[in-house]
Amino acid sequence: MAFAVRVSFFIVIFVIMQIQVLISANHQVPCFFVFGDSLVDNGNNNRLVTEAKVDYLPYGVDFPQGPTGRFTNGRNTADILAQLLGFNSSVPPFATAQGNDVIKGVNYASGSSGIRSETGEQLGDRISLDRQLQNHETTFSSISRLLGNDTSAKIHLSKCVYYFVVGSNDYINNYNMPEYYTTSTKYNPQEYSSILVQQYSQQLNSLYNNFGARKVVVSGVGPLGCTPAEIAKGTNGTACADSVNDAVTLFNDKLKLMVNGLNQNLTGAEFVYNGAMDLRPKDLIALGIRIVGKPCCKVSSKTGQCIKGEKPCLVRALHAFFDNFHPTEVVNNAVAAATYIQILKLLH
Ligand SMILES: *[C@@H]1O[C@H](CO)[C@@H](O)[C@H](O)[C@H]1NC(C)=O
Ligand SMILES: *[C@@H]1O[C@H](CO)[C@@H](O)[C@H](O)[C@H]1NC(C)=O
Ligand SMILES: *[C@@H]1O[C@H](CO)[C@@H](O)[C@H](O)[C@H]1NC(C)=O
Ligand SMILES: *[C@@H]1O[C@H](CO)[C@@H](O)[C@H](O)[C@H]1NC(C)=O
Repeated sequence: MAFAVRVSFFIVIFVIMQIQVLISANHQVPCFFVFGDSLVDNGNNNRLVTEAKVDYLPYGVDFPQGPTGRFTNGRNTADILAQLLGFNSSVPPFATAQGNDVIKGVNYASGSSGIRSETGEQLGDRISLDRQLQNHETTFSSISRLLGNDTSAKIHLSKCVYYFVVGSNDYINNYNMPEYYTTSTKYNPQEYSSILVQQYSQQLNSLYNNFGARKVVVSGVGPLGCTPAEIAKGTNGTACADSVNDAVTLFNDKLKLMVNGLNQNLTGAEFVYNGAMDLRPKDLIALGIRIVGKPCCKVSSKTGQCIKGEKPCLVRALHAFFDNFHPTEVVNNAVAAATYIQILKLLH
């Protein structure tokens, strides 16, 4: 079984590599920027005072450098995409990026963060999407200095690919936590999805207007009702917590319309909606993954994260989830492969 998984997976990657060879022969992507949450964080939370920090084993058990602050056993989708785009290493976390490195891209993502600035605050410090954009302003100044002026910086940045993975925590670590947040008493799910998408659209508009971004991948939120955390709270006899997924669907549907709106409003912009995160249990089983509703590691009942030092499951590739919220590398591979197809639409 594990062998069959590997074979089919390598075929997918092989096909993608062939496409990539054709593309990169003519169209290099000079830079790759990542914004988002723990699904793509590669170490930005390590120095923050927060419970959303995973710089310890078993996280990174399958990563060459071991635990780095990535919320999975191996590579996350930003790492895999950097490889598919032809970079010889992942883009550095903003927290440790130095000197000329930033010209090839930076990863600003922060575990527990969201579109809304208060999202995740019950866990401690985090870098909200607004703060990530402020950090990008710092990067913009460095690139301006390196290239001589703002115009040159914008020309360079217009060629970069921007990868956004955010929104999950605005539900998990905000709306769905009435004991800490008031959003669910102020807004119904329809209203909440609208205000999230509206704020997100302002953030993406500012990336375009202030920093010259033109090629942007906007990821939909995955089916949060299918995470082990939500399944453990109980479902109505179905595979996932349907009410949670229904709220996410409202958000994703509005997000797709917003992406269309950005493409209409912003000259020369190419925003693409990325639905690659939408993998349901049946899709995961079709990928050869066997255990789709339980975490691979032993998790803390408080945070849903792996308990430090506990041995994880032996065959990670048969598990969809590493802890109560985060997919394993084998799922990240599938998500990244599907996302890469979306990115190819931006490269011509
Ligand atoms: C990538 O590889 C090239 C050629 O081997 C090397 O010159 C360059 O320094 C590498 N870049 C990084 C970021 O490792
Ligand atoms: C910015 O720098 C570029 C490259 O050095 C130069 O060609 C261009 O004239 C400069 N533009 C402005 C507005 O200074
Ligand atoms: C289960 O059904 C009840 C009644 O329809 C509903 O209120 C609740 O949100 C459902 N739970 C989930 C997890 O979907
Ligand atoms: C596009 O422009 C219209 C008119 O100004 C505005 O109402 C709408 O919100 C904009 N859409 C996005 C996604 O920014």
